[in-house]
Amino acid sequence: MPLLELKGLTKYFGGLGAVRDLDMQVEPGEIHGLIGPNGAGKTTVFNLVSGVYSPTKGKVFFQGEDISGKRPDLVARRGLTRTFQATTLFHNFTVLDNVMVGFHLHSKINFWGALFNTPHTRRREKELRQKALEILEFLGLAPMKDEYARNLPHGHQRALGVAIALATEPKLLMLDEPVTGMNPEETRVMMDHISKLQERGITLLLVEHDMKVVMGLCKKITVVSFGRKIAEGGPDDIKKNPEVIEAYLGGEEHVA
Ligand SMILES: Nc1ncnc2c1ncn2[C@@H]1O[C@H](COP(=O)(O)OP(=O)(O)OP(=O)(O)O)[C@@H](O)[C@H]1O
Ligand SMILES: [Mg+2]
Repeated sequence: MPLLELKGLTKYFGGLGAVRDLDMQVEPGEIHGLIGPNGAGKTTVFNLVSGVYSPTKGKVFFQGEDISGKRPDLVARRGLTRTFQATTLFHNFTVLDNVMVGFHLHSKINFWGALFNTPHTRRREKELRQKALEILEFLGLAPMKDEYARNLPHGHQRALGVAIALATEPKLLMLDEPVTGMNPEETRVMMDHISKLQERGITLLLVEHDMKVVMGLCKKITVVSFGRKIAEGGPDDIKKNPEVIEAYLGGEEHVA
C-alpha cells in the first residue's frame, strides 16, 4: 500500500486550476520528487495534503485512510508533516524553544496539566527537551541551541525548520524547497540530512528547483506543469522526457 496516495486531486482558485486531476503515489521509504516550473501547483499540492486547503475535487489518502480536507493539526498527528517554502520560525525564541514548540503541536501534555504544572507535566517536559536536543544534534544545530533563531545564518534557519517538523515525529515529511537561498556547502549539508532522514525510515516528498539535489536524491520524480502531471519516472527518464524539457524551456528554468 502506498504511504500517500492522491486520486484525481483538484484545486481551483476562482477560474484558475492550480492542481488538476492529479494522481500520485508515494511509496513507503522513498524520497519522491515533485518538480515543475514556477506556479505549476507544487506548493498547492502540499497545502492540499497537509490540510491547509480542502480539495475542490479528488481525494488524499494517507496509510489507506481518507484525510482529504482534514485539519492540519489532525493530519500532523497521523504522521504527515510539511515544511514551508519560506522559513517560518519563532525568531525571538531560542533554537531549542523552537523545537519545543514543534513538540507541543502534537504533545500529550494536556491543558490542565500545563496549567497546574503537575509532576507528570514536568517529567514530560524534561523528556521532550531531551528529544529536542537529539534532533538538534542530528541536524548539527546543538552548538547553537541557546541562540535566538533570528541570529542564525540562513542555512541553519532552514535546518531549524526541518528540526521543528521532525519534532512531530513524521512518517512522511514534505519539504518545500529546502535548499533555496543556500550556498553550495549548505546545500550539500542539507542533502546529507535528507539522506539520513530516509535512512532513519522517514519517507520524503521533496519539492525543489535545484535539479542537482532532485536528481541526486530522488529515485522517483513526478513532474507537474500548469497543475497537471506531465511525466513521472526515474531521474534519467525525466531528464530526457521531451514534455518535461518543453515545460522547462518554456520558462526560464532548465533541467540540468
Ligand atoms: N491562495 C491562492 N489564491 C489564489 N491563487 C493561488 C493561491 N495559491 C496559489 N495560487 C496560484 O496557483 C498556482 C500554483 O501556485 P503554487 O504556489 O502551488 O505553485 P508552485 O509550483 O509552488 O510554484 P513555485 O515553484 O513558484 O513555488 C499559481 O498560479 C498561483 O498563483
Ligand atoms: Mg511553491
